Parts: sequence; structure tokens; C-alpha cells
Amino acid sequence: MMSAYRAAAVAALAALLAAGPALAEEPIKIGLVLPFSGGPYVPLANEIADSLAMAIADAGGEVDGRKIEVLRADSTHKPDVAQAMAKKLVFEDKVDMLVGPVGSNELTALFNFANQSKTPLLIPNAGDNEATGERCSPWVLRTSFSNDQIVREMGPWMVKHGYKTAALIAFDYAAGHQQMDGFKRGFVKAGGTIVSEQYPPFGPISDFGPYLAKIKEAKPAAVFTFFAGPPATALVKQFSEFGLKDQIKLAGAGWLISPLNLPGEGDAAAGVLGILNYVPTIDTPQNKAFQAEFQAKYHRTASEFAAQGYDTGKLIVAALAAVKGKTADKAALVKALHSVTVQGTRGTLRIDSKTNNIIQDIYIYEGKKEGGKVDLVVLDKIPAVQDPPNGCKL
Ligand code: PHB
Repeated sequence: MMSAYRAAAVAALAALLAAGPALAEEPIKIGLVLPFSGGPYVPLANEIADSLAMAIADAGGEVDGRKIEVLRADSTHKPDVAQAMAKKLVFEDKVDMLVGPVGSNELTALFNFANQSKTPLLIPNAGDNEATGERCSPWVLRTSFSNDQIVREMGPWMVKHGYKTAALIAFDYAAGHQQMDGFKRGFVKAGGTIVSEQYPPFGPISDFGPYLAKIKEAKPAAVFTFFAGPPATALVKQFSEFGLKDQIKLAGAGWLISPLNLPGEGDAAAGVLGILNYVPTIDTPQNKAFQAEFQAKYHRTASEFAAQGYDTGKLIVAALAAVKGKTADKAALVKALHSVTVQGTRGTLRIDSKTNNIIQDIYIYEGKKEGGKVDLVVLDKIPAVQDPPNGCKL
């Protein structure tokens, strides 16, 4: 006869099986590696993480009966910590894929590990051109942008609108140099002249005084810049306080006047030009629903970082649905990520299987004071911007 203990165990097993695959199967795990506690990009990390979680919850939190779990790891803005966190997530926690980082400074460390371990890595922000260019990997895909893709349309646009000389200023690391190079190439080709270039150290910089003095001396028609996070707010405010705003047009990769920064920038953001892959006013049902949900939850406008986090979640869920929640075959998962097209917050999104970079619309916009506060007003839209292979062979 069966012991009472065995009978109970058999009954429990039968109940588990009867409940279907939802209870019997392991959750799908996503390892999220972002700088939650260090460096200039902490607010960006939180925006991405919160909206990625929102996208997964909106999809019901599961695919084919498998729950989706997101495991957060803090890279502290250090490449070696980012890589150690990724290793722990893959080898100990057995995540099915990785998502991260924010900055190009941490990307190489994550990229190398994902490439060697054949773990799918989705980049939800960092724009290093090489990751989807000459160093591209079959395991590393990007849902955000490449640094060149974001800015390259702006040089010709500025010349066309009468700005023939420009001073450049950006963080001194890969993202800063790549964005300035991307702007410069188109600007010079269209007939513009660069009159000065400055690269302050990459970090939580707060005093732009010495750099602004140099810009004042160079007397350009415009400044083109890349800063994000709190340093962007500092630059926009000090540019105005220095009295440069009335003489020189301030323009930059649009993180300069992100919805994350606008409240701190106040009137100083009026008249500033941006170019980016997202504006909160995109008039589609998907974006309106996203903004409404985000604003109800967090009581502020969702930024482009939130949009990228949400779209990353949507692409992941669509790919998981395409493989029916089966994640053991990682190559099949990557193939599914290439095969899906989603209507995201940013419009129609697809990952280019030739480069692993996203194809998306790019917006040129300006801060305009309306009803007592500065809002972003779209001036131009460039549809379906796609990177050339740039040496990538997949
Ligand atoms: C990057 O390091 O590639 C980077 C970081 C923050 C941004 C954009 C690009 O807002």
C-alpha cells in the first residue's frame, strides 16, 4: 500500500500537471543590467527599467503559460561590474537573455560576454556605432539607435536653415565623439564649417563655465552638442545664464531637452533644437496609450528612454510569442527577434537582420514656450532611418 506521504506527493503532482503548463514550467528570465546607482545616467536607467516592466505587465506577464521574470542588476556605471553582473545572471540565475546597458562606456564589456557565451543581448540605449557596425555580433541586437543614426540628418538640416558655422561640445567618450563626427560629416558636406570642438571629461559634470567662454570667443552661428542626464540640464541653463542664448542657436542630440530634463531647465529650453528617435506627442494609438498609462503611474511625461524600454519589452514579448515561449534554442530566439515587426511607441519598429540595429523614424524638434511651460514641437520627420552595414557581416 502507498504510504500517506507518497499518496500526498502523487496527488500534489497530479494537481500540478492538471493545472497545465503555467505552473509546471520554469519562468522565462530576462537579466537587466543598468547603472541604477552610479554616474550621470541613473535617471535613464530607472526610466528604461520601469517601462520595460510595464510592457511585460501589459502583455499579461507571460507567454504560452510561462511567466516572464525580469532580474535587475546594478552595473554602478562600471564596465567590469556590468560584465560580472551579466555572468552571474547567465551562469547562476540562468537568464534566457540579457538587456543593457545605458552607456557606450559599458557596452563593450557586455557585448564581449554576450558574444562569447552566445547569449542574446538587447541594447535598450547605448549607441556605440561599432556594436552594429564593424564589430557586430549575431548575439547582440539593438532596440534603441546607433549614435550616427540619431544625429546624421542634423548637419544638412542646420545648413539648410541658415546655420553655416558651428561649435561642437560633447562628453569625452565613444558616444560623444561618434555623435559629433556624425553631425560634422553631414554639416561640412553641406557647406558648413566647424569653428571649435571641446570634449569635457565624461562624468557628472556641473560647471560648463570655461567651455562656454571658449564658445563665446569662437562666435559660431550654432552649437551642436551631446549630453544626457543631469549634465544636459546644467548646460542648457548655463548657456542661457551666460547670455549666449540670444546670439547662438543651441542644438543637440535631443536628450539635451529630454522630458526628463525640461522641468529643471525651465525657460532656458525654449528655442533649443533637438534631433531624436522619439517625441512624447507622436500621434498614434500606441503612443497615446503608452503616455496615458505611464503618466497615470508616474505623474510625469514618459521620456525617450521610457519609450525605448517599453518598445524593448514589446519586441521581446513578440519574439517569445513567435517561438511559443520556448527559449532553449537561443539562435531561434534571435531569429524570432529579426522576424517580428511591432507597432511601438515610436511607430513601426523592426530590427534589421543585416546590422542588428533598429529601423525607425527620426524627429527634429524645438523647445517652445506654450501655456507657461516649454514643450517639444516637431519641425521635421525623417521616416524609417536605417543604418548602412558599416562593415557588419552577419
Ligand atoms: C551612449 O553612451 O551611447 C549614450 C548614453 C546616453 C544617451 C545616448 C547615448 O542619452
